[in-house]
Amino acid sequence: MAAEDEARDLLVKARGDTIALDALVERRLTGEPLAWILGHAPFDGLDILIDPGVYVPRWQSTELVHRAVARLPADGTAIDLCTGSGALAQAIQRARPRARIVGTDIDDRAVRCARTNGVTVYEGDLFDPLPASFERTVDLIVAVVPYVPTSAMHLLPRDTLAFEPALFYDGGPHGTEVLRRVVAGAPRFLRPGGALLLEVGADQPEMLQEQLESLGYTDCAAWSDEEGDYRGLEATITCGCPSRSQNRPDLGRVGSGRVESSRPI
Ligand SMILES: C[S@@+](CC[C@H](N)C(=O)[O-])C[C@H]1O[C@@H](n2cnc3c(N)ncnc32)[C@H](O)[C@@H]1O
Repeated sequence: MAAEDEARDLLVKARGDTIALDALVERRLTGEPLAWILGHAPFDGLDILIDPGVYVPRWQSTELVHRAVARLPADGTAIDLCTGSGALAQAIQRARPRARIVGTDIDDRAVRCARTNGVTVYEGDLFDPLPASFERTVDLIVAVVPYVPTSAMHLLPRDTLAFEPALFYDGGPHGTEVLRRVVAGAPRFLRPGGALLLEVGADQPEMLQEQLESLGYTDCAAWSDEEGDYRGLEATITCGCPSRSQNRPDLGRVGSGRVESSRPI
């Protein structure tokens, strides 16, 4: 965000109180995320409440939202794993008001924040807190999990490292530890024909391909950003029985317009 825009937002927050403004500017100068200071952040045209300590949703995740909306029936059911503030769940819900969308998160600050945002959230590790009634009924599972390789954590922006916990980002040695657990756990909850949409990075789609295929996912495809870097993958669960992938042809340019392509993994 441009410095002038940040200054304007801080002025609005201070409501003419110069002492309060000084304190807000002081916090921002330490590198504290603007959204934590303001208490909210924009996401896909929505204004999301963000409590201090809760992950600030990134515009890059809007592509995942648009793809999720395209795949979710009007009265379908979706799970947003690692929901954070519940930003993705809210954006999907806005487009599919009759759908049932729930989130899970392991961090109690995130759970409180998402609930304040009106999202139904179960607190716990990935799928663990979900009621058994969701099993084999869910149309869509979306997730922006921690997927940064541990060895690349030091490359994150200085302010990120100073303020945000590794819990948001650290995905283990290849960044795929949590992604793999999601891929393994999703078939228990997806109905036949249900889809898994994940935000990913680098070469993670190829790293996950064998696991996806061995678990019976089909139509595995990945999309990239305008630099050609992978940003996400989607896959469909068919019968839950192992099969070879039936990759589909290039899906073309979809969603936010920032995405260059989607192609079979
Ligand atoms: C990168 S943030 C994404 C948040 C949100 N989906 C978004 O895009 O704004 C990752 C979130 O995953 C949560 N998380 C990390 N490990 C988890 C786990 N094992 N089970 C559930 N949530 C987890 C963190 O608390 C954090 O809120």
